[in-house]
Amino acid sequence: MFEKDDLYTDALHAGQEADPATGARAPPIYQTTSYEFEDAEHAAEMFALEDDPAAYATAYTGKNIYSRIQNPTTMTLENRLATLEGGIGSITTSSGMAALDLGVFLLAEGGDNIVSSSALYGGTYTYFTHTVERRGVSTRFVDTLDYEAYAEAIDEDTAFVHVETIGNPALVTPDLERLADIAHDAGVPLFVDNTFATPCLCRPIEHGADLVWNSTTKWIHGSGSTIGGVLVDSGNSPWGEWDYPEISEDNPAYHGVNFAERFGDAAFTYAARARGLRDLGNHQSPFDAWITLQKVETLPLRMERHCENAMVVAEYLSEHPAVSWINYPGLDSHETHGNASEYLDGGYGGMITFGLEDGYEAARDAVNNVELASLLANVGDAKTLIIHPASTTHQQLTDEEKQASGVTDDLIRLSVGLEDTNRIIEDLESAIEAATN
Ligand SMILES: Cc1ncc(COP(=O)(O)O)c(C=O)c1O
Repeated sequence: MFEKDDLYTDALHAGQEADPATGARAPPIYQTTSYEFEDAEHAAEMFALEDDPAAYATAYTGKNIYSRIQNPTTMTLENRLATLEGGIGSITTSSGMAALDLGVFLLAEGGDNIVSSSALYGGTYTYFTHTVERRGVSTRFVDTLDYEAYAEAIDEDTAFVHVETIGNPALVTPDLERLADIAHDAGVPLFVDNTFATPCLCRPIEHGADLVWNSTTKWIHGSGSTIGGVLVDSGNSPWGEWDYPEISEDNPAYHGVNFAERFGDAAFTYAARARGLRDLGNHQSPFDAWITLQKVETLPLRMERHCENAMVVAEYLSEHPAVSWINYPGLDSHETHGNASEYLDGGYGGMITFGLEDGYEAARDAVNNVELASLLANVGDAKTLIIHPASTTHQQLTDEEKQASGVTDDLIRLSVGLEDTNRIIEDLESAIEAATN
């Protein structure tokens, strides 16, 4: 039984043993494209996935063929993140978006549809509207909290239901268990973007999610130096009963392997590796995985501080006379404070969104006048970050799309860092004053 305190130990130890070749305690960077086979027979077996399937799940077994598909350094990170999320396996990718794309590649084909909450990161919204459409897949957006609307939108062509744990940018937390029931009743998986919560605050798999993706670029790495993503497999999905040709049928692209039959609970992880990574080429590099591994060690500690700091800053902003509204899941006033209190354990995250009395111009002026905070298009850095989404990240959305995804013209997005809160508040105070005078 997982205990929250296990995170502190797992973040340091899970998925790693001292390197069997050298005894190195820190994970070595296996900067290699390929791995020597013992002989021709061994090579043939490896390509046929003919071996004990479990052996492919550990980092240092010599079961490697080519680093586009599998690499010991990258796999150490994959095993650690799978443990933190409570999954059976995971695949790390070159970005968060690549993790989403890997999942969509396996689940959806032309003629299918995706049912997604509309409160989404702008890039996901564009991917669901324009990118998948080019592959003949459509997306039906529903209000994040309108559970009947999800059920009504699902039909026999639905590939999966998608939602964010803390929806960007309104920071809404849906009732994950209810959504999992709705998806499962229809025989489709629940696919959750857990980027804003990280496994330290929420483990969606414990609440019924089948697949979880994170942009590791954000808090999981936390220093703003490395783009990356992870797709985590719960191991709980009945792929053999559900209708997903890539996973549950004899796969012609992998000489007839039926991943559900061959790999059982871990079918999705193996299909993602052998079909997805092999053909899409979106695996995370060993160097990026190595840097992210260093940062994961302190993730639980950093998340504690992000949450504490964000709460202090949210309370300050909520009392500021020039602030017309504020979203922070930890405040009683937030519309999903109840769900957030149920599903987030250990704090309410590091994100705040708020508006100023004087609207669009004031919001732009405020982000222009910060000095400590950095004006840039990222979140989840150790440093405080700020942006005005309407003129930047969500600029390409129509007015209707902006409204559906909750981006109002006056919205300022703040990613609260690990600095001293007095310094963060001083900075906001002077920026707001400059913008509203
Ligand atoms: C909630 C959320 N999900 C996914 C992504 C995409 O991640 P990446 O930039 O690593 O591709 C982002 C990026 O901002 C995000 O905020």
